[in-house]
Amino acid sequence: MSAQHTDPSEPRRLTDPELIQVHDHAGEEKTDDGGNYQLLPLVLLFLFSGLIFFGGTYLGLFAGHFAPTVHDERGSPMAAVAEVKIDVVAVGKRQYSTTCVGCHQATGLGMAGMFPPLAKSEWVTGSEERLIRVLLHGLSGPVTVDGQQYGSGPTAQAMPAFGPGGAFNWSDDSIAAVLTYIRQEWGNSAPPITAAKVTEVRTKVGAHGAWTAADLEKLP
Ligand code: HEC
Repeated sequence: MSAQHTDPSEPRRLTDPELIQVHDHAGEEKTDDGGNYQLLPLVLLFLFSGLIFFGGTYLGLFAGHFAPTVHDERGSPMAAVAEVKIDVVAVGKRQYSTTCVGCHQATGLGMAGMFPPLAKSEWVTGSEERLIRVLLHGLSGPVTVDGQQYGSGPTAQAMPAFGPGGAFNWSDDSIAAVLTYIRQEWGNSAPPITAAKVTEVRTKVGAHGAWTAADLEKLP
């Protein structure tokens, strides 16, 4: 506050220097800086896009699919990927519930006179050689499952082929997974079937039409 402004009855007035300051700011206009700035050069834009793309691709390829063992500095990141276990039974269950379920039902009990059961079936828990052939090439004609006859009479149906050349054309892995699943579901308890075993039977037998139960019973 200035020295002249002493009378408390007078309203406070701005003194000269203060006034000037206020005016200065009020009248001020943004000055053009004369184009002293530039847009981001196009070449930098391309450079950074390229780096981001490269980084994304690199991480996608070499990050080891989020496997924790990737941080083992002595291990290879790709070896970590191979360690990620696939739950075969879960895969098989998904295959079953999208495809087989229409005929053999979610209960695995099938339908009287049409579709034989997979629960308590000696075809499911018995010989791998027979079971793999049923899936690869199909089955038709009379078959006895858990003491009941199927595949004869007016309502008889056939089991479709799931191997190459069939309507489904499943991989050996898919066939192995669904077989492993049905061997462990509904109270069934039999060891898993490996994709390698399916491959072995498929290459040994080659192309083949639907089997009959009588054909398969000759096999071990
Ligand atoms: C279109 C209906 C149909 C579909 C889909 C089907 N099956 Fe079958 N399946 C049959 C019929 C019918 C038989 C009996 C054939 C016969 O009477 O000779 C059979 C027989 C079988 C048998 C041997 C007999 C037994 O009951 O154990 C197995 C094992 C089997 N199927 C598994 C499967 C699996 C696994 C799938 C899915 C990947 C599947 N089936 C999909 C109709 C089907």
